[in-house]
Amino acid sequence: MCGIVGYVGERRAAPVILDGLRRLEYRGYDSAGLAVLAGDHVDTVRRVGHVAALLAAVPPELEGTTAIGHTRWATHGGVTEANAHPHLDATNRIALAHNGIIENHTTLRARLEEEGFKFRSETDTEVLVHLVHKFYTGDPEAAVKTALGLVQGTYGIAVIFAEHPGVIIAARNGSPLVVGKGNGETFLASDPHALSAHTREVVYLEDRDIVRIEANGWTISRMDGGGVSRNVEVLGEEWAEEGRGDFSHHMLKEIHEQPESLARCLRGRVVPELGGARLGGLELSPRDIASIRHITVLGCGTSFHAGLVGAAAMEGLARIPASAEIASEFRYRNPVIGPDDLFFAVSQSGETADTLGAVKEVQVKGGRVFGVVNVVGSSIARTCGHGVYVHSGPEIAVASTKAFTSQVAAMLVAALSFARTRALGPHEGKAFGDELLAIPERVGEWLASEPRSVMDAVDLCSKGRFVFFLGRGVSHAVALEGALKLKEIAYVPCMAYPAAEMKHGPIALIDKGTPVIVIVPDDVMRDKTLSTIQEVKARGARVIVVHTAGDTHAAKVADISIPVPRASTLISPLLSVLPLQLLAYRAGLALGRDIDRPRNLAKSVTVE
Ligand code: AGP
Repeated sequence: MCGIVGYVGERRAAPVILDGLRRLEYRGYDSAGLAVLAGDHVDTVRRVGHVAALLAAVPPELEGTTAIGHTRWATHGGVTEANAHPHLDATNRIALAHNGIIENHTTLRARLEEEGFKFRSETDTEVLVHLVHKFYTGDPEAAVKTALGLVQGTYGIAVIFAEHPGVIIAARNGSPLVVGKGNGETFLASDPHALSAHTREVVYLEDRDIVRIEANGWTISRMDGGGVSRNVEVLGEEWAEEGRGDFSHHMLKEIHEQPESLARCLRGRVVPELGGARLGGLELSPRDIASIRHITVLGCGTSFHAGLVGAAAMEGLARIPASAEIASEFRYRNPVIGPDDLFFAVSQSGETADTLGAVKEVQVKGGRVFGVVNVVGSSIARTCGHGVYVHSGPEIAVASTKAFTSQVAAMLVAALSFARTRALGPHEGKAFGDELLAIPERVGEWLASEPRSVMDAVDLCSKGRFVFFLGRGVSHAVALEGALKLKEIAYVPCMAYPAAEMKHGPIALIDKGTPVIVIVPDDVMRDKTLSTIQEVKARGARVIVVHTAGDTHAAKVADISIPVPRASTLISPLLSVLPLQLLAYRAGLALGRDIDRPRNLAKSVTVE
């Protein structure tokens, strides 16, 4: 969603800001703007649409060396230039960009209007810049602090003052901000990715931190007083600057990166000599593992689907009762949490507000929650304190692909490590671990020889009115994930069901030619799923079957057959999801969609 970039140094700031905003485009936004300190005033340029439109509008004479920029994903007020950030105070001498939501903005606005402040936008944010102006008596930090003392809600803000060239004041509460250390220059961003061209040395701000940023450093204090120092962290290699390479879209590149991202996720964690696995970040002794009573895996969207596979592995392999829940529902249902319950919060971005809210709810109730997170230093990773990084590397396309497979792999490794304590002998553990370790290569081989039938499926699905996805057990999670991909990238209406549910209602929708995609690994549920295929075929459905290579019967009942390599049930999602990712990508392409930035979506959903 919204993004913030700031720069203080000796360079012309506007190009640095524009480059940072371009790197944040993947998060999803609908307008962009920047504010540059220019002599005794602030110049702003704001545009609806892509950063390219902003770039075209920024005049070359915009010379200042202190600036802030913003990409906005509209929440309060339409997608207009007036609502785009940064917002200015009445004197045009203070500019402010904001991520998050000011919940009491209506009351604050009414009060400010009574006092004579004139509003120029419909946003919740504008109250902040007027409050900062109202309390400004020469000390920018004090003004920001006093203003923030009146607001309820979440914020990551960046503020510049014409009277203080070379200074940015930033503050965070529930919306991430990082400071980037340069050489004689300092950066600010809501996401370290924006800084990847300039520095890998970053400082993550904590909630209720306020920071004064200057070219040669920064000072952090707490909203309730007192200074604080925070460590400089160095981002890993995989987060270094990268582009699309030879791929036409980030999504395709990320699909093809899965052999590497999976290898990175598994490396050093599966230990064949022990017939088990080691996950340093979990810090659980065998005794702790033995006493776990129930595991709940929390997440949203794709991360929830990965969580379904994770929960199935915890139960099936480690024999621990487990379930997965959508984080946004969990957090408000006043869950009962026992002392021996364990939670995992799965999130690519580590910033999803619903998942973060669920983590906090678990913690308020005294529960233990581990993160299964991709973005290092993100809010969920930091709030959990312990967990597993999935090491996918940056995922830029809005549609999650390589993060899904790494999340599943990380959960399978965790399940294997628990299983060695609770259920499995060394030989069974080793067999599972060996199969996992072989997965990156098998994924690579399948991707290198993508069956032509994927294109036949694209043809059928992009012409269909809607598409059904069916599977059982973990293949139901894959069906959900395939349907989500096709919806978000190709905008094709889809439904995913556990296959046996069809006869309880949804089968009424099957008509002549309805595309039905069925995921049928050669496991204990195979024959039952094949029966469902017969039932939908009898009613005219055209069936695309994703099945185990060599399963000739499954291939024969299919109108379109897509073979994937043989794998044991719990590992099979890592292979059966591949054709569905490519199907969504290719259908989106065929229908002329904006693959990496599908309409209405944001990569990192930081509001409820
Ligand atoms: C995935 O393709 C989606 N765009 C979306 O469902 C995503 O998985 C969800 O918003 C959760 O994000 P997270 O993994 O960053 O928490």
